[in-house]
Amino acid sequence: QTVGVVFGGPSVEHDVSIITAQQAMAVLSERHAVIPLYVGKDGRWWTGAELREVSAFTQSPPRGGRPVQLRLGSPDAPFVEPSTSRLRGDRALPIGVVLNAIHGTGGEDGALLGALELSGLPHAGRGVAAFAVGMDKHLAKTVLKEAGIDVLPHRRVERGEWEGDRAAVLSALASDFPPPVVVKPATLGSSIGVARCDSAAEVEEALELAFELDRQAVVEPFATGAIELNCAVLGRPGGELRVSEVERPLGSADGLTFEDKYLSAGGAKGGSGGAKGVEGAASGTKGTTAGGTKGGGAGSGMASADRIIPADVAPELRERVREEAAKAHRALRVAGVVRYDFFVMGADDPASARIVVNEPNTVPGSFAFYLFEPTGLPFADLLDELLAIGLA
Ligand code: DAL
Ligand code: MG
Repeated sequence: QTVGVVFGGPSVEHDVSIITAQQAMAVLSERHAVIPLYVGKDGRWWTGAELREVSAFTQSPPRGGRPVQLRLGSPDAPFVEPSTSRLRGDRALPIGVVLNAIHGTGGEDGALLGALELSGLPHAGRGVAAFAVGMDKHLAKTVLKEAGIDVLPHRRVERGEWEGDRAAVLSALASDFPPPVVVKPATLGSSIGVARCDSAAEVEEALELAFELDRQAVVEPFATGAIELNCAVLGRPGGELRVSEVERPLGSADGLTFEDKYLSAGGAKGGSGGAKGVEGAASGTKGTTAGGTKGGGAGSGMASADRIIPADVAPELRERVREEAAKAHRALRVAGVVRYDFFVMGADDPASARIVVNEPNTVPGSFAFYLFEPTGLPFADLLDELLAIGLA
């Protein structure tokens, strides 16, 4: 197969996506021909063998990048390198299947999948609607709840509503969701703009920030005393599901921040926006696991965030989390690999602990390979199963 790997993108998780894609391309190239398809923050697309090195992205446009286009309406050759000379003509890229490695906006919200479907190109990960729902924290909670899956109660606030009457929004929130609460932009990832608020003033400040980043926000009670557990699921509706090991990500007591997830260890400090941060994160991903088996492979997972795998909770609780993850995957009717992030209240009593889904991640960091490896599924096989879903 010739696999086109699409990464980068307009989202605030642009840099994280570069890392996920580098990890995947390194492993894919053991078995397949790989064509990088990098989407700059400005929306320009690039290809070129050099884009398989993270160092290409210390400059913009990336070092060695050549323009490439996704052309709708040309099903025989959807990806082309436009010719620089009139005589030669455009060159079609021989891509047989696309792997979407864009996190967040554009990649996780179904937009890219929609474009690929219109172009007739198979792509790993199916379900434009499932991706769109998964990316929107309000819609995701609504759909999961309807399927009988426990989620925290929440209120959605629209930017227009907020700008129209801040006082009314704050007073409604104060009665339904008294602090401590968590305010989140509704459709971003990587905890960007997420804030724990202990007072009305903090809620106001957090909503102001959320609306600089997003048109909608969700407010939910802070899950006091909860621990976070994550679990990923691979498969498609109607098919057999593979459920990963359960991890406990280690962050601050207020929940994982962007810094915890990507910048806390391994030398990636010094800027979440710049390519410098990317390089640091890529070279610093190994061996940061605290106390558990490490992810291994092409760097131990996204990120420098510390994690314990398997999570240090009772096996019975891990099993319950795995069951909830599979249930959520079926409820979303999503095809691909999705990491489900949970809050667990009362984890000391595994039988009665309350397990709520915090959110699905339809393009999880590192494709969650470090969660599947401990179950005996190597990253290369995980990617092949993903591609098979695309080609089915
Ligand atoms: N959104 C990031 C990449 C994750 O949740 O893994
Ligand atoms: Mg996320």
